[in-house]
Order: sequence, then structure tokens, then C-alpha cells
Amino acid sequence: MAKRDLLIAGNWKMNGSKESVYNLISGVVDGTTDISNIDIAVCPPSIFIPMVSELAAKSNNIKVGAQNSCIETSGAYTGELSVQMIENFDCKYCIIGHSERRTLYGESDEVVAEKFNTVQQSKLIPILCIGETLEERESNITEQVLAQQLDAISEKNGNDAFANCVIAYEPVWAIGTGKTATPEQAQQAHAFIRQHLAKIQAEHAQAVQILYGGSMNATNARELLSQQDIDGGLIGGASLKVDDFVTICQTAKELSL
Ligand code: PGA
Repeated sequence: MAKRDLLIAGNWKMNGSKESVYNLISGVVDGTTDISNIDIAVCPPSIFIPMVSELAAKSNNIKVGAQNSCIETSGAYTGELSVQMIENFDCKYCIIGHSERRTLYGESDEVVAEKFNTVQQSKLIPILCIGETLEERESNITEQVLAQQLDAISEKNGNDAFANCVIAYEPVWAIGTGKTATPEQAQQAHAFIRQHLAKIQAEHAQAVQILYGGSMNATNARELLSQQDIDGGLIGGASLKVDDFVTICQTAKELSL
């Protein structure tokens, strides 16, 4: 069965300066390495979104995303950003439910489902992050945790919730730790996610891109991206290094030929 198109997305988290943003995006769009025809997304800290959107407009395949958004669409929510504001600056994606938001900012499955709903009501495409902790993996409840995180979304948003979204499987123990899931472990989790989604709606399950996230880098990308149910990567650390990020995009391009 043909695989879905690959999407390589960088999650810059709270990193960067005007100078580094300029260097990073210019390095990716400079055309020295041919990474056209591959779907690329970068999700900078929100203050850099206008700058990144402007620089990325020089290419036709680099899209911009936000790392988070507010459940509400406007009003007295100091410090928050609405989906309309994000749309206003030509973004295509919005990451929802990253484990750092879940753990450090107390975002429950319910809050994530509400945010997912707000994003889907807009023109943005949610990149929904799910994944188990080390303790959960060692207790053999990975699949239960993933199912629960997915069910929270469909319970709130209905069976068509996964029609227009991207899912990122990010084992919490692999994020920023340099410990990557083996390609087999990752494929197994991705296949489970797709099977679980198929119980909700078979067509959406086949079409949805499921990205792997957790210490993906220029060296391990090829093996991970070659797996049948891995449709790209959500990349933190390695997306801040232009050479590494370009190499991952190039690998994705080679695998897509
Ligand atoms: P990492 O981060 O690539 O640095 O592990 C991935 C993520 O948190 O999205």
C-alpha cells in the first residue's frame, strides 16, 4: 500500500533570536540542497511567526505553525494567542497537546480536546501530540495511554475529528533525551494508533499523517521514516541546526522518490 506524503516539522520550542531565526530559515530555503516537493513545517516561538512567515514565503513548500493556542477566540486572556491571530500570519498548523504543555502547564486530555476543537474550527490544521511516559511504557500500558489520549479527542469532537489533522507520536521518554524509540518500537506504536483510529473512522485512519517525535536526528531519520506507518517527524533539537534539519528533509525527499 502506498505511503502517505511525508511531513517534516520543526518544533523550535522556546529557542532562538532574530539572528538565529534568519540564519536558520535562510539556510533551509537557500536552494543549495534540493528539498523541494517535500512538505516542511516550522513552528517557531510565536513572536517570530511573522518573521518566519515572511522568510518562508520565498519557498513554496515551507509552511509555518504555532506551538500552542488558546481555547477561547478573543477576550480578556492575558498572554494568550487566538487561532485567528495565528491564521492572520499565514500559518498552516498549530501544535496541540505537546507533552511539555501537558506536564509543565497542566493541560489535561480535556483541555487538549477543547484546544483541538478550537483549532479545527479555524483554517489551521492541528498537530496533535500524544505519547506515553517511561513509567507507562515500563508498566506495559503504552497502548492504553495512546487510546485514551485519542478517545478524548473523538469524544469531544466526534468521529470525523481526525479528518483534517496530523498526529505526532512522541514518547515522552525520548523527547530531548537523545534516546530514540527504535524503528520497531515506533512502528508498533504508529500501527496501533492507526488501528485504533480505524475503529473510529477507517478512511481518516488511512489518510492521517502520523509523525514520529523524540530525538529524531540526521542519523536515525532514514530508518524511522522508512517504516510503513511513520509519515514524517516532529523534530525539536535537530530542527535548530540547519545542516541536520536540511539532511532530514533531504532524507524524506529521497524516500519519497
Ligand atoms: P526532540 O523534541 O526532537 O528534541 O526530542 C521533539 C519534540 O518535543 O517535539
